[in-house]
Amino acid sequence: MYSVIILCAGQGKRTGLSYNKMFYTFQGQTVYEMTLEVFMQDARCQQIIVVTRPEEREDFIKLSHDSRIEFVDGGKERQDSVYAGLQRVQSKYVFIHDGARPYVKKQQIDDLLECLKTHKACLVMVPCKDTIKRVVDDVVIETLNRKELMQAQTPQAFDTKLILDAYTKAIQQNFQATDDAQMVENFTDEKVYMVLGDYENKKITTKEDLI
Ligand code: CTP
Ligand code: MG
Repeated sequence: MYSVIILCAGQGKRTGLSYNKMFYTFQGQTVYEMTLEVFMQDARCQQIIVVTRPEEREDFIKLSHDSRIEFVDGGKERQDSVYAGLQRVQSKYVFIHDGARPYVKKQQIDDLLECLKTHKACLVMVPCKDTIKRVVDDVVIETLNRKELMQAQTPQAFDTKLILDAYTKAIQQNFQATDDAQMVENFTDEKVYMVLGDYENKKITTKEDLI
């Protein structure tokens, strides 16, 4: 049994839309509804915590039809929204998922739950297809070894107590992270495990992702 935090409190600025990308519609369904679906279909999911901007909560409520859903106000940065969501988690395990990743599949949830049987922190990742270089002021500083590079996605799944402790320390120290696993990497002694994900589990980020 697990809780899921679905992050919807961003503004979707990079899409260039005049509204939150969570309300963008693909074939009659919003990104929000697409993302919710796999969790609503999963009996192992006992709590769905949707994090939104306060002024948008009503719009999300209209699209939410499941008694497991509850709402929390988000914060300025993604990590502030996660931290707000974590305060409400009631299960032993928590999944943290970007609302903007509507293509997540049951397979990924199954694989993460399997990993949680033996580990306290894991996330879905896919191998980097491109060569990644570090660049400062238009100059290449370093080419990283592609064989060692993986792209982090969500869901990221944790023992609730572990991730709450890690986040509490990170927030106290003003640490800025771009994903959740980093909090465990930096503020606990637990290892973070990779679960092989799926390239289709893309995040809707720029206008190219809206097709
Ligand atoms: N998010 C959030 N609270 C924030 C910022 C982001 O809950 N303060 C959520 C977004 O709604 C999104 C997910 O975190 O589902 C991933 O963030 P991102 O792709 O950066 O979305 P936005 O912040 O909405 O987009 P942008 O950065 O382009 O404005
Ligand atoms: Mg953002």
